[in-house]
Amino acid sequence: MNNLVTILYIIAFSMFIYGLMGLTGPKTAVRGNYIAGWGMVLAIVATLIDIRDTNNWWIIIAGLVVGCVLGIPPALRTKMTAVPQLVAMFNGVGGGTVALIAWSEFVTSSGFSNLDDTPNVHIIVGSLFAAIIGSISFWGSVIAFAKLQELIGGHSISFGRAQQPLNALLLIAAIAFSVVIGIGAGTGGVSQWWIVGVLVAAGVLGLMVVLPIGGADMPVVISLLNALTGLSAAAAGLALNNTAMIVAGMIVGASGTILTNLMAKAMNRSIISIVAGGFGGGSGEAGPASASGGTVKATSAADAAIQMAYANQVIVVPGYGMAVAQAQHAVKEMAGMLEAKGVEVKYAIHPVAGRMPGHMNVLLAEAEVSYDALKEMDDINGEFGRTDVVLVIGANDVTNPAARSDPNSPIFGMPILNVDQAKSVIVLKRSMSSGFAGIDNPLFTATGTSMLFGDAKKSVGEVTEELKAL
Ligand code: TAP
Repeated sequence: MNNLVTILYIIAFSMFIYGLMGLTGPKTAVRGNYIAGWGMVLAIVATLIDIRDTNNWWIIIAGLVVGCVLGIPPALRTKMTAVPQLVAMFNGVGGGTVALIAWSEFVTSSGFSNLDDTPNVHIIVGSLFAAIIGSISFWGSVIAFAKLQELIGGHSISFGRAQQPLNALLLIAAIAFSVVIGIGAGTGGVSQWWIVGVLVAAGVLGLMVVLPIGGADMPVVISLLNALTGLSAAAAGLALNNTAMIVAGMIVGASGTILTNLMAKAMNRSIISIVAGGFGGGSGEAGPASASGGTVKATSAADAAIQMAYANQVIVVPGYGMAVAQAQHAVKEMAGMLEAKGVEVKYAIHPVAGRMPGHMNVLLAEAEVSYDALKEMDDINGEFGRTDVVLVIGANDVTNPAARSDPNSPIFGMPILNVDQAKSVIVLKRSMSSGFAGIDNPLFTATGTSMLFGDAKKSVGEVTEELKAL
């Protein structure tokens, strides 16, 4: 039977890895997700076979029922735009589970003093690591969820200069309590209050670390917490001698770390500066009016329609404003009108356009825009120079040429879409307000740029009406 369990675990984590490979492209992502999901079902079956002699079947069944009742409905009902908070919640549950597993290991082994395995240092260290990181991840994710769900303000809540010393104190406390438990393990164990102390200190640390981070930086934080949950699950797997948990935990830990790094790199910020708070400390809403002082050229829907109708190629650059306006369906309709007139339409997707990874891809996919028309930054940047019209729809920072040319700009060095190199640029936004980074965008006052002011959905709809009349 043990061999069967091992074989099932190997098949399960092979399916996790194969499923993850599918997530690298939109066409294979759904299938990849199903494969990894079935891998998880197999891992659960293997675990149930492994613990078949237990007397606690009713607890296991109750756990499965509660998990399904609480997990399936929100997963089915959640709107695409609320996926970040759903991920935060699922991630938090994972971290919390790992912390509880560590606590249960402590209790069932009387404070790690009567473990079956010798040497057993990996069980003690693995469990305590899992307790600390799992608890940080759970409570950090609770705050991330509450901020994104707007249960608490998305703005930064900080304890000023006391913040860092307080965080350091909590981390030291969690480690010190763990050391006491480790030493006690060899001498008959210590009171359960020590492990409770570890969980509480780490939990408060999780709250304290995430509270000061602004709502707009939350996707990066969630990805970081996700990586931590993976690592804590791998540590718990080590303690429980469970291969599937170790492999799955390491996959989550590694992929979460890579995603966090990619996001930070695309924003040209370090992970440390994000966690410490920075220009993302705000709620993520647009900033005050721009004061660049250049001449702004306003245009009308009719002029924009004429310009685009006579172009060979139009590149649409969507940004956070398209998401706010929910303009994706209107954009698809407008593109259809242009294509009917023989204009080639492409979409330039910046990796951190919007407020979550893949934000623009998700919205455009919802509007059934073909994946083939979506071009990644590196693939499309060479094309702007030979493009007649670029239509920037609610994007700002990801088009800011200061990132290329102004060493004093806070976003200097951030890779951007080189829209300023196109023959003409039409920007759809409501005002001259800044975007997420809170800075001026010289693109808006450049000679080839004209501004079509208004809500993106309304403006795109007006352009489409004009196109119909041409
Ligand atoms: P932003 O630079 O934030 O600019 C969005 C623009 O949309 C604003 O300037 C705003 O101008 C406009 N807007 C808002 N509502 C609108 C509406 N209803 N109709 C028309 N326009 C509207 O967006 P971006 O260019 O997509 O850049 C994303 C930023 O978020 C980057 O700085 C990135 O680093 C950051 N960020 C991204 C992520 C991920 S993973 N995507 C995560 C965290 C942070 P008006 O107010 O004038 O309309």
